[in-house]
Amino acid sequence: MKALRDHFREAKAAGKKFAALTAYDYSMGRLLDGLGLDFLLVGDSVGMIQLGHPDTTRVTLEDMEHHVRAVAAGVSETPLVADLPKGTYNDPDAAAQSARRLAQAGATAVKIEGGIEVVPQIEAVCAEGLSALGHLGMLPQRVREEGGYRVKGRTPEQAAVLLSEAQALEQAGVFGIVLEIVVPDVAAEMTRTIPVPTIGIGSGPNCDGQILVTHDLVGLFPWFRPRFVTPKADLASEIRRAVSEYIRDCRG
Ligand code: KIV
Repeated sequence: MKALRDHFREAKAAGKKFAALTAYDYSMGRLLDGLGLDFLLVGDSVGMIQLGHPDTTRVTLEDMEHHVRAVAAGVSETPLVADLPKGTYNDPDAAAQSARRLAQAGATAVKIEGGIEVVPQIEAVCAEGLSALGHLGMLPQRVREEGGYRVKGRTPEQAAVLLSEAQALEQAGVFGIVLEIVVPDVAAEMTRTIPVPTIGIGSGPNCDGQILVTHDLVGLFPWFRPRFVTPKADLASEIRRAVSEYIRDCRG
């Protein structure tokens, strides 16, 4: 198969719009595989959605290996991207080694959060023959330092930094860049500037593609929903309804 980067660059040049979702386990991977998604992400959001953590910062590489293995067991067609969790890519060697472990678990590519400071890590991952996805804007692994989930690119200075970081990540070899809650005009400008796809989450409609946490899309995590998500289903209510009916049947 053509390298992911060539494939994504060519598809962007041809005007393709990309769609991606998260998966954390076998059944969701199997349900979503073959539907036409451009990739599935085993995100470190697994920490919040599946492990009950307050944020992504405590997710370990072992957690990620476990979930990547489970999703990979159900996926045969869709490229599988896995997050390198916080603290597992502090230097290029660590990044390469962590990426190898996730590739052995079944990932096609890894996602790395950060800008200029992770360029050597991205180069090290690509030098291993693995594919890397960038992640700019709000970086959930830094939510504690930043004191919350804040929109990025609000000032001209922030916008200029984001643009130059996108260019640096592209030069380092990423096949795409996730833009998380970036001001839509800035995300649009980044999209115009770089040859690999931008994949937005809460960054407006003018990215090359969109990614969401599947549980948000289908209403399966009712305790918190980001403002930018319009759910397409309400599976939490449906589960509760089915279980109530089952309890009535058992007792009736
Ligand atoms: O961990 C995650 O789910 C992400 C998002 C881009 C959806 O990084």
